[in-house]
Amino acid sequence: MNFRIKHACVFSVFTLLSFLIPALSRAQGSNMEFGKKYFDGKCARCHGKDGAGNPKMTQLLNTDLKKINLHRDEIRHMSVIQIEAIIDSGKHRMPKYGGKLTDSQIHDIASYVKFLIRNEAKKEEKTSN
Ligand code: HEC
Repeated sequence: MNFRIKHACVFSVFTLLSFLIPALSRAQGSNMEFGKKYFDGKCARCHGKDGAGNPKMTQLLNTDLKKINLHRDEIRHMSVIQIEAIIDSGKHRMPKYGGKLTDSQIHDIASYVKFLIRNEAKKEEKTSN
């Protein structure tokens, strides 16, 4: 193949990929940025930015820190869909967000929660080794 044509081919493949990859990841994945922003802005009031629970809220919520600590094993084993259901319908003193947020926003937040607690699990693995 002529050198120039070869270059043109490689270039067009790269151009195509640079359009395709972001489009695909947008379609499959979730918008982590929105998830984090919303979590930090709203959920962190009770659960803390790190998800470990805000000790100042336990009295107001009439609960203990363990209940609002998202790094519990039960929550770690939840799927994104199960976390979405909790955000959608609330639980005890936790407000419901269904109707206030779109399904896709709830999905973004649930994915961020999953990311947050998975990261914590990884940190623990490292320190215990
Ligand atoms: C006003 C305080 C408050 C806010 C804001 C809040 N939560 Fe909660 N959340 C709670 C409390 C209290 C519980 C414990 C419920 C219980 O008694 O089991 C809880 C429990 C949870 C659980 C675990 C449920 C279970 O089965 O143990 C998840 C997951 C969760 N919240 C995620 C979120 C997310 C994500 C947001 C933001 C969209 C959020 N919460 C906002 C108070 C809050």
